[in-house]
Amino acid sequence: MFGVCYYPEHWPPSQWEQDAQMMIELGLTYVRIGEFAWSRLEPNPDELDFAWLDQAILTLNNAGLKVVMCTPTATPPKWLIDQHPDILPVDPNTGSTRTFGSRRHYDFSSVQFLQQSLRITRELAVRYGNHIGVVGWQTDNELCCHDTALSGSNNARSAFQVWCANNYSSIEKLNSNWGNVFWSMEYRDFDEIELPLLAVTETSPAHRLAYRRFSSDQVVKYHTLMVKEIRQHAPNQFITHNFIPMNETAVDNFALAAPLDFTSYDNYPLGRTDLMLTGASADQLGRYMRTGHPDFATYYHDQTRGLLNRSFWVMEQQPGPVNWADNNPRPAPGMIRFWTIEAFAHGADCVCYFRWRQAPFAQEQMHAGILRPDNSKTEAWPEAQQAMLEVSKLDITHQTTQSASVAIITGVEGLWISDIEKQGEAYDFNSVQFSYYSALRELGVTVDFISVDADFSPYALIIAPSLPIIDSAFVEKCKNSSAEFVFGPRSGAKTSEFGYPTDLPPGLLQTLLPIRVLSVETLREDFAEVLTWNGRQYESCHWREQLDAANTEVIATYHNDEPAIVRSGQFTYLGTLTNRAFLLDFLQQQCEHNGVRTYRFDKDIRVVQRGALMFAFNYSEQPQVLPIAANTQWLLGNATVESHGIAVWRATE
Ligand code: GAL
Repeated sequence: MFGVCYYPEHWPPSQWEQDAQMMIELGLTYVRIGEFAWSRLEPNPDELDFAWLDQAILTLNNAGLKVVMCTPTATPPKWLIDQHPDILPVDPNTGSTRTFGSRRHYDFSSVQFLQQSLRITRELAVRYGNHIGVVGWQTDNELCCHDTALSGSNNARSAFQVWCANNYSSIEKLNSNWGNVFWSMEYRDFDEIELPLLAVTETSPAHRLAYRRFSSDQVVKYHTLMVKEIRQHAPNQFITHNFIPMNETAVDNFALAAPLDFTSYDNYPLGRTDLMLTGASADQLGRYMRTGHPDFATYYHDQTRGLLNRSFWVMEQQPGPVNWADNNPRPAPGMIRFWTIEAFAHGADCVCYFRWRQAPFAQEQMHAGILRPDNSKTEAWPEAQQAMLEVSKLDITHQTTQSASVAIITGVEGLWISDIEKQGEAYDFNSVQFSYYSALRELGVTVDFISVDADFSPYALIIAPSLPIIDSAFVEKCKNSSAEFVFGPRSGAKTSEFGYPTDLPPGLLQTLLPIRVLSVETLREDFAEVLTWNGRQYESCHWREQLDAANTEVIATYHNDEPAIVRSGQFTYLGTLTNRAFLLDFLQQQCEHNGVRTYRFDKDIRVVQRGALMFAFNYSEQPQVLPIAANTQWLLGNATVESHGIAVWRATE
C-alpha cells in the first residue's frame, strides 16, 4: 500500500481534483491531510471552518483515495497563543520563552494547551470519526521533534513539584534518594523544588533523571488523552503517530506507542546520514551521501516495528533533496525505489511519500516533492511506480514480518543516563546501541528491538548494549530464560535513583554474573588499546572497566592481561566498548553458537528476510555477486546485484 502527504490548504481548490486524479494515476491509495491546518480549521476564536476540509475529503474520495486525518496540534494558531501565552514553552538551555512563528511551540505542561488540543481533536473526531472516506488518524506530528520534550516554564515547574509529591512519599525521602545532602541541596517542601536548569554548574543527576521521567510522563499523558478522545468518536478508524527515533524524542516511545493501533516512522535517509556523519571525513560521508548509510534507515524501521512488535507504516518517505540537514544532496538514481522496498522488507505495510508537491513558499520551499511547483514529475514518480509494481508482484505485504531470533534491549533510561552523566565524551548511548545493530545487520541477522518488559522466549540471543538501570524482576526474567545474554559495559551500574550501587556495579546483575567493577576509565575518541579475544587482537576503547572476574570465565583481556570480557553460563559481560571488527567476529560466533544463520557478504550488502522472501540490498557503487547456492529461486534480479540494486529470492528456511 502506498500514500502521500498532502496539504490541500496550500493549493487553490481548483487544483485538488487534478491532484487527486494524478495520485490515482501514480497508484496511491492513502492521502494524509489536516496536519498543521489549525489556522484554517479555526481562523478565529469560536469560528470553526470545516467546509474546505469536507470539500477536500470529498474530492479525494471521489477519485478513489482514502484519507488519513491528522490532529493539527503541532501548530497552535496565533490568536490562541495570544489568548493563552503560557502555551509557549521555555527553552531549558536559555530560560527564554520560545516564540510563535514556526511549529511545536507548545508546552506539554500547559493545562490550557491540553484542553485546547483535546477540544480541536474532539471537533475533528466528531465530524470525521464515522466518515466512510476517512480510514484513520495520525496524532499531532513527530512528538518532541526539535527538542521539545523539555520545558523550563513555570507550568512545568509546578507540575514537576506535583509529580515529585506523587512519586516520593515525603520530602525527606526525596532528599535522601537524590542525595541532596551533597552541596546543601536539601528541600524542606515539595513546593520548593526547582527544575534542574540554568544552575551554575552541574545539578544533581538524580534530580535531572526525575525531570526527564516527569517530562516523558507529561508527553505520554498528553498523547494518551488525545488518542482516547479520537477513539471515543472514531471507534472503527485506526490511530497511529509518525514517530521520530527515541534518541531524538528523548521520551519513552514504548509508552507513547502503547495506545496506538500501529506505529509509523518518517524516513529521511539522506538528511539523517548528513547529520549523523557530520564529523566524518569527506571519504566516509561521500560513500553514503546519496544512498544513506546502509543501517540508518532500517535502524529506525526496526525500532519503530519494535514499539508494538507489529508491522508499521512509513508515513513520510524522502522523495528527493530535503531542506533541513547541513547539506542536502540528491538521492542517487534508484534510491526512492530502493528505500521503499527496504522499508517493506523490514516490516512496513504502507509507504507514504512526503510530500505531493514542492511548496513554492515558506520554510520548506527547497524540499522536494513528487511533483515540482510547476506540476512536472520528479524522479520520485517513476521510482515510486516501479516500487509499487514490485511490491505487488512479490506480494510483500502478505508476508508475515520475520520473527527474529536476536533481540536488542532498548529503552529511554539508558539514553537519559548517558546524556546526564557523560563521564567520557566518547560514550554515547545511541552510538553504542547502533554499533551492535549495525554489526548484526552486516551479518544479515534480523533484529528485534525490545523493552525490558518484553517476552524473552522467542529469542536465542539477547543483547543489552546499554542498560544501566535494572530491577530484580528483570534479573529473574533473565534467569528463567533459555536465551544467551550479552551485557555491554555500564549494565546495572546505577540504582533506580541514579546512585552508584554500594556493592559495586553491575549491581543487581551480580546475581547472574558474580563480578565487581572496581573502577571505570574513559578514553578520548581517537585512542584505543589492545583487546585480545580468541588469540586475535582487536580494540578496547572509549569506556573501560576494571573487573574483578571472581569465578567467571575470562574470555577476552586488556593490553595488561586483566579481564575485559567474562562469561558465566548463558551470561556474557563486556567491560569495554570495542571496535567493529570485534563486534562482527564476536557476534558471528554468538549467532552461530545459538543456531542463528549469518550472511557475511560485502560490507555494503544488507540481507533481510520477510516471510518467504529473502532480500539483498546493494549500497555500494559496484555490482556485487552474492555467494548463494546455484539452485536459488530468484524472484527479482539475480546473484549479481547491480549498484544500488535489489535482489529477492525464495527463502529456504
Ligand atoms: C518531517 C516533518 C514534516 C516535514 C519534513 C521535511 O520531519 O514531519 O512536516 O517538515 O520533515 O523533511
